[in-house]
Amino acid sequence: NQEKTALFTIFGGTGDLAKRKLYPSLYRLYKKGFLKEHFAVIGTARREWTNDYYREIVMETIKDLADSTEEATKFASHFYYQAHNVTDTEHYSELKELSTKLDEKYQLENNRIYYLAMSPNFFGTITEHLKAEELITNDGFNRLIIEKPFGHDYESAAILNDQIRASFHENQIYRIDHYLGKEMIQNISAVRFANAIFESMWNNRYIDNIQITLSESIGVEERGGYYETSGALRDMVQNHILQVVSLLAMEPPIELKDEEIREEKIKALRSVRIFKPEEVRHYFVRGQYGASTVHDEKSLGYREEQNVDPASQTETFVAGKVMIDNFRWAGVPFYIRTGKKLREKGTQINIQFKGMPLNLFSEDHTTPQEPNVLTIYIQPTEGFSLQLNSKKIGQGLETELLNLKHKNSAETSANSPEAYEKLILDCLNGDSTNFTHWDEVAQSWKFVDVIRQAWNKETPEFPNYPSGSMGPVCSDQLLEKDGFKWFWNP
Ligand code: BG6
Repeated sequence: NQEKTALFTIFGGTGDLAKRKLYPSLYRLYKKGFLKEHFAVIGTARREWTNDYYREIVMETIKDLADSTEEATKFASHFYYQAHNVTDTEHYSELKELSTKLDEKYQLENNRIYYLAMSPNFFGTITEHLKAEELITNDGFNRLIIEKPFGHDYESAAILNDQIRASFHENQIYRIDHYLGKEMIQNISAVRFANAIFESMWNNRYIDNIQITLSESIGVEERGGYYETSGALRDMVQNHILQVVSLLAMEPPIELKDEEIREEKIKALRSVRIFKPEEVRHYFVRGQYGASTVHDEKSLGYREEQNVDPASQTETFVAGKVMIDNFRWAGVPFYIRTGKKLREKGTQINIQFKGMPLNLFSEDHTTPQEPNVLTIYIQPTEGFSLQLNSKKIGQGLETELLNLKHKNSAETSANSPEAYEKLILDCLNGDSTNFTHWDEVAQSWKFVDVIRQAWNKETPEFPNYPSGSMGPVCSDQLLEKDGFKWFWNP
């Protein structure tokens, strides 16, 4: 593996994301030889930590991954801490000094990656200072990785984008959507563009509907404060789900390269129908989990969670019907759903194909056959299945369902690189394929804003689904009125 050279500056270096995802991912890259001698990490945050303490924390986060303490210590020796107040100009001068020093020490060729793993309120301030205090180098690469949420509606996202773009060019900005780093999301392109049997049928002549389920069994946990300002629509639909929709719906790109793919994704997102306010109720429904008893344990309702308003109207579940008004997809509903405290953790995409014109296996020829369904298992299981009709063994001509299934072994899944690891490596390589472009973000907000605004005008009857269920009744009704039902492939 070819060694990469860069200085990482992580804003939010003491935070949860840094500890849970970033340090372990950097360590995996180190173990694989992508990072060796020529890298350094500056962690910044408000707290006063010493380098030693910071390194201890870093070592703690990789203790299950490191083969020896020696190896972990060597890795951690590349980490430096600097207490930093993001609004204090003086601190940026200190940061610049340290960056220059580390650049020389590790011969980093002025390559810089700034990772903003903190509240987006400060993104603008930070990028502005990085430019003004000349932390952006002239000869190496300068890349900015930012975490969601990118704004809370189109307007705020546009303001934020303008602020960032005053210091970084679009091609230097890497907006993270960690779903794009998942193995099986990246596999969507292989399913579609490496298999003639699917791509030839990937359109409204053969596909009846597509279902995307992102189900979570956990609740909001300690994130009540954030979640109250977000809700499932902003937290999951605006980003992850619409990204998945765009990958499923886009036209074949000329090449599997960032710009080519992006162009097709943007076109797909532009074809997504933006509803009129009065249409929203026909296309989107919401829910909030209530208390229940699951496996003898009392599970709290959302309104009883920490930092949540006891009368909260925040949705923890969304289901909707997305329509794509272009030649390929006209008339094919993309049903999407996501929620917290659902029955199980599982993400899957189900592509339901159209039925036969006649059912020769039924007396009256009109009772429909079970449809063919292609399932893409995203997580925790990774794999595919294809539902087919087959003749039941024995006398007569009856059919039964069979499932051709391939699931990656637990070992393969465990050894495949984690999303953050892949995305950080992509950024080191200057490959923005699996990051979201501003045009995608903008279009996604425009879609979501109309729904949000329509919802804000009505008081929902919450809670409306018990923890441990698969969401509110209105979610099932959404499909029933079109003659479909949610498909869940175990
Ligand atoms: C995040 C959301 O973007 O994705 C969380 O903010 C959610 O609320 C998480 O739990 C789900 O990610 P994953 O990878 O566990 O499906």
